[in-house]
Amino acid sequence: MRKNIAIDGPAGAGKSTVAKAIAKKLNMIYVDTGAMYRSIALFMLKEGVDVKDSKKVAEKCEGANVSIEYVNGAQQVILNGENVNGLIRTSDVSMAASYTSKVKEVRDRMTFLQRQLAKEKDLVMDGRDIGTNVLPDAFLKIYLTADVYVRAKRRYEEFKEKGENYSLDDIAKDISKRDEMDKNREISPLKKAEDAIEVNTDNLTPDEVVDYIISLYKEKV
Ligand code: C5P
Repeated sequence: MRKNIAIDGPAGAGKSTVAKAIAKKLNMIYVDTGAMYRSIALFMLKEGVDVKDSKKVAEKCEGANVSIEYVNGAQQVILNGENVNGLIRTSDVSMAASYTSKVKEVRDRMTFLQRQLAKEKDLVMDGRDIGTNVLPDAFLKIYLTADVYVRAKRRYEEFKEKGENYSLDDIAKDISKRDEMDKNREISPLKKAEDAIEVNTDNLTPDEVVDYIISLYKEKV
């Protein structure tokens, strides 16, 4: 039986930092499903599709061929043959992804791909619907949360490091809006799986969160 770890939670809760570190320590593969959804959003923006037009997004999504590769252990998202890792972290793409990821055709394609990956290897997969939908039988399920201002502050620091300046309030507004859409969409909304363990990271360092989740995993093995 596979021993996959599913980590879900709202934007900026620290999922990717923590999931990446856990995968490294447990010698597992890390899969960032948000990056896959982001690449679909990027495709729609490039094609000039109105991301709020779900019908158009559904029609067009067949043209987006998404796959992932690893370079020195780091996930790369390939969209129609192009490595788009450097293009998917903008706030435009973030917001567009929350619209395009509502669409059934998009979710079906991404879910299929994610389940294929999980068949091949033990992995740590993070996203919004991993414990509830993609891997309902995951070995360990975590639901990571943090106060919206704590999450906004973390994003603010990340942007600052990259030399991009946004106001903390704008980031908090963006995050709240995306959470709202992710939690209220019809298909696979963001929610805690019944058997997931909720971890609030407000007062924890990334290392503390990583160690705690690894201890939960080891207790079960
Ligand atoms: O995790 P990240 O912020 O990169 O995800 C971008 C967007 O992709 C989310 O706001 C959400 O709308 C969508 N997503 C999703 N299901 C996942 C992962 C991400 O709907 N499993």
